[in-house]
Amino acid sequence: MAKNKKALAGSDRALAGSDRAPADPIGGTGVTWRALAGEALAAREFAFVPHSGFKVGAAVLTPSSRVFRGCNVESAALPLTNCAERVAIQKAVSEGERSILAVAVAGDASYLRRTKASVGATERGDEGPLDRFVTPCGACRQVIFEFGPEAPVLLVDLDGGWRLTSARELLPGGFRLEGFEG
Ligand code: THU
Repeated sequence: MAKNKKALAGSDRALAGSDRAPADPIGGTGVTWRALAGEALAAREFAFVPHSGFKVGAAVLTPSSRVFRGCNVESAALPLTNCAERVAIQKAVSEGERSILAVAVAGDASYLRRTKASVGATERGDEGPLDRFVTPCGACRQVIFEFGPEAPVLLVDLDGGWRLTSARELLPGGFRLEGFEG
């Protein structure tokens, strides 16, 4: 109970970070970037990270306007760790979805400032260096690309900074099996 309360309080704080994400609806859905960013930030609160302490949240929007959340889930056998993005996509696919319209990924980019003095936390837009935000790992880029080759991807920092990128920008020349339906 106490633990739930703590998670909710944390989630309220994190959601404040989504205030500045774009208020535009995504595709033909009624879901805005701001809402999807909020879902990713809320998902981040549930990250299970006893090994790295690094929480990541993700939210994917599907063509049926459903949103699926994911967080990273670490394992004591470290390679078995699941990233937030893939958890969210696997939840969507395992609930009957077959493609994704958009993705939001939330992480604390302040860790980058330890090594990159130039990191500006409040940057917002669709250009500029990607490495100022928490970006999907290579494995997640592949899975995002397979289910959403045209998907825009919003990277969200905790303090209102965001960068809009895409599956194609994250994985140029990405591989997928066209025309194979599972
Ligand atoms: N992580 C994600 O959840 N998503 C990414 O794309 C980058 C990395 C997680 C995996 C691990 O639990 C922690 O961040 C530190 O690498």
